[in-house]
Amino acid sequence: MAKELHPSMLLVLVTIFLSISDSEQLQSSQSQALLRIQELLNFPAILSSWNNNTDFCNTEPNSSLTVECYEDTITQLHIIGNKKAPLRPRNFSIKSFATALVKLPNLKVLTLVSLGIWGPLPGTISRLSSLEILNMSSNFLYGGIPQEFSLLSNLQTFILDDNMFAGRLPDWLDSLAALTVLSLKNNLFNGSLPNSLGSLETLRVLSLSHNHFYGVVPDLSRLTNLQVLELDDNAFGPQFPRLGNKLVTLTLSNNKFRSGIPAELNSYYQLQRLDISSNSFVGPFQPALLSLPSITYLNISGNELRGMLFENFSCNSELEQVDLSSNLLTGSLPKCLLSDSKGKTVKYAENCLEDTNQNQHPLPSCHTEALAVGILPERRKHKQVSKVLISLGIIGGSLGGVSLVALIFFLVRRRNVKNKTKNPPTRSISENAASGYTSKLLSDARYISQTMKMGSVGLPTYRTFSLEEIESATNNFETASFMGEGSHGQIYRGRLKNGSLVAIKCIKMMKSYSTQNMMQRMELISKLRHPHLVSALGHCFECNLDDSSVSRIFLVFEYIPNGTLKSWISDGHYRQSLNWTQRIAAAIGVAKGIQFLHTGIVPGVYSNNLQVTDVLLDQNLVAKISNYNLPLSSNMRKVKHKISSSGSKSTSSNKSVKLEDKSDMYDFGVILLEIILGRTIKSRNDVDALRDLLQASIVAGDEARRSIADAAVSKACLDQSLKTMMEICVRCLVREPADRPSIEDILWNLQFAAQVHDAWRGDSQSSESSPGSPLEPRRFTFHYQYRG
Ligand SMILES: *[C@@H]1O[C@H](CO)[C@@H](O)[C@H](O)[C@H]1NC(C)=O
Ligand SMILES: *[C@@H]1O[C@H](CO)[C@@H](O)[C@H](O)[C@H]1NC(C)=O
Ligand SMILES: *[C@@H]1O[C@H](CO)[C@@H](O)[C@H](O)[C@H]1NC(C)=O
Ligand SMILES: *[C@@H]1O[C@H](CO)[C@@H](O)[C@H](O)[C@H]1NC(C)=O
Ligand SMILES: *[C@@H]1O[C@H](CO)[C@@H](O)[C@H](O)[C@H]1NC(C)=O
Ligand SMILES: *[C@@H]1O[C@H](CO)[C@@H](O)[C@H](O)[C@H]1NC(C)=O
Ligand SMILES: *[C@@H]1O[C@H](CO)[C@@H](O)[C@H](O)[C@H]1NC(C)=O
Repeated sequence: MAKELHPSMLLVLVTIFLSISDSEQLQSSQSQALLRIQELLNFPAILSSWNNNTDFCNTEPNSSLTVECYEDTITQLHIIGNKKAPLRPRNFSIKSFATALVKLPNLKVLTLVSLGIWGPLPGTISRLSSLEILNMSSNFLYGGIPQEFSLLSNLQTFILDDNMFAGRLPDWLDSLAALTVLSLKNNLFNGSLPNSLGSLETLRVLSLSHNHFYGVVPDLSRLTNLQVLELDDNAFGPQFPRLGNKLVTLTLSNNKFRSGIPAELNSYYQLQRLDISSNSFVGPFQPALLSLPSITYLNISGNELRGMLFENFSCNSELEQVDLSSNLLTGSLPKCLLSDSKGKTVKYAENCLEDTNQNQHPLPSCHTEALAVGILPERRKHKQVSKVLISLGIIGGSLGGVSLVALIFFLVRRRNVKNKTKNPPTRSISENAASGYTSKLLSDARYISQTMKMGSVGLPTYRTFSLEEIESATNNFETASFMGEGSHGQIYRGRLKNGSLVAIKCIKMMKSYSTQNMMQRMELISKLRHPHLVSALGHCFECNLDDSSVSRIFLVFEYIPNGTLKSWISDGHYRQSLNWTQRIAAAIGVAKGIQFLHTGIVPGVYSNNLQVTDVLLDQNLVAKISNYNLPLSSNMRKVKHKISSSGSKSTSSNKSVKLEDKSDMYDFGVILLEIILGRTIKSRNDVDALRDLLQASIVAGDEARRSIADAAVSKACLDQSLKTMMEICVRCLVREPADRPSIEDILWNLQFAAQVHDAWRGDSQSSESSPGSPLEPRRFTFHYQYRG
């Protein structure tokens, strides 16, 4: 190493100095913008700590004020005022406010909530082209959403709840191709919804509650990621909307729906909350809704649903709130609803049920006219015809194919009920899973950028090492400490003076790089710290004495003791193989690691070319990615590998980044394939063949799935969990990169797979006394869904 100060080093120092003062400049223009914002808001109390000397990037964040920086530029700004913030005074100018905001050009997350801001939403804000999350709830914004917002191609979460926006929703919303959360609750929007909403395939949450929308809800069945749909308090109708079956929350209450309830609803196995109250839904009430596998809240009150209930109907024991009141139901209340456990609410007044203690109508008033769905007479409550059965027939017929599903469902279900006679109703997805995952996942989706904050736990701070330290740690690179050849060079095991084990990568530089240039790259590497990455602890440069360029770099990494993921799944001979829970956890770890590589630093690290051997397990079996695409310029692995077989490269840099990240999705799919099947995959042909096999078994049924999964786990995993893993695996492996799922989508599915499995395991352990295989009751549950 060069120890004396070479003349050229002076130049380096000067350059470093210049670049430092350069970045201070940048910082100061952003500080000015923040101070301007403070001024335009008339120096509110929350911002009272801001002044000319504030070091904004190093302020302590709290629930009402957060400034986050990456390097010297502000990436997140959250200002959250008091709930009842009064209107800003007359001289407030939203235009000047927006002008100040766009001086923070790298903002990714912007939260301006309850600040009393008023005026039309300025189109200027769309100049914040990196914006991913925008939440401007609880202000006094009015007018429409300006057309310029269609340029925000990175926008994922868009929240304008509790304002005074009006007019129709624009029909360019589908140009927000990354949108996952759209929430416009409590505004004055009107008109019918644009059909283009139906092509926002990334959408996960759509909340339009409390507006003045009306008309038919456009076909949303292509929104396969949609989990939350809230349309309550509008005037939608009359047809029940067409939806994808992955919904978790569906709220249609207080609208003008007048149709029947489609039988497909019985295949919404993730549905937890269903609220269709206060409409005019007609036709039969489907008791199967009571036993949907995930349902916890069911409200059908205030409709004209009819049908006879029996004591022997079964329900999901997790049902906490059921409201059947004000319908035309007859018969007797199912016993399973009567169990008086605390915290459970069951309402059923204003029907024509027998022997109940909630107020009921006399039987004849529930035998009103037989109604066919869709042909709705004006005055329906007055004629008295008691042809419930006929009406059922008509409704079944008019629903066409779906009624077959219902019939099959009924038959299977009846048989099932008979078999079980006195067993308590099937307990399905447990409470934890049911209440836990949605909110957690939604908040994940909203705050993807929070991954940036996440430091790697318990690692020493990044530092430079001396060559002597490296030599003594590896005993002068003795053969005994040689671990292998990595993608960038040899790897040695070492022991530092303080006793800790490390892995040292020796990277020989092919071209000549100045130390300064390399320092910048090391800076990036030092930021790659995350619980699911094998992180660098520091580096050491070996320099050429003549020009002080870097000849070799030693990168010191944390040492991960438990070997590769591969050795825990395929080579079961000398290791105990991972169980299903551990395998999903490992997959989640890898996915989180990839998510961090893509979004946790700027620029993201893509095309990591990961293999199952690049995933290491630590002493707690936590998966960590090693061998990711280190930003070392000349040593960067082919950046554009494996991109779409169709070879279509997009012109916009944005899109190409998207395709980049999709090559990691493919590699992840291959890792998942090995995790599920427990076998080594050697070639792309192997992958294609196995993917097709997986695809076939997804359709074929649970026996097929079990027969191809790794025998070490296939007996002890819940089929729904296995199936979900297979589905996400197949989706990662599709040829067209654009069709592969996003990392968030992958994470969601993996977490779902983990939670249904855990819930089931918890169940089968706690109810060991119940006879028969714990799989039995679930089987039917997931059979019918293939037809839906
Ligand atoms: C948040 O921090 C700011 C100063 O940084 C302070 O003025 C404000 O009162 C704090 N708010 C809360 C809720 O702690
Ligand atoms: C901050 O600096 C500006 C000029 O740059 C000056 O007008 C203002 O009074 C200063 N404010 C404080 C609180 O020092
Ligand atoms: C706006 O009016 C308030 C008083 O209502 C005053 O304190 C403030 O300085 C004015 N702000 C601007 C930017 O003129
Ligand atoms: C918008 O931000 C506020 C303040 O952080 C938060 O309470 C609210 O839940 C956010 N809205 C949504 C829909 O996430
Ligand atoms: C929708 O709202 C806009 C703006 O408030 C209003 O001008 C228009 O008349 C409304 N249209 C309907 C059909 O209500
Ligand atoms: C069901 O919905 C109605 C009207 O929307 C509401 O009044 C009632 O409280 C709800 N029931 C439950 C149990 O939440
Ligand atoms: C439920 O009870 C009714 C009469 O009480 C009976 O007709 C029906 O077959 C029973 N259903 C099942 C599935 O046992």
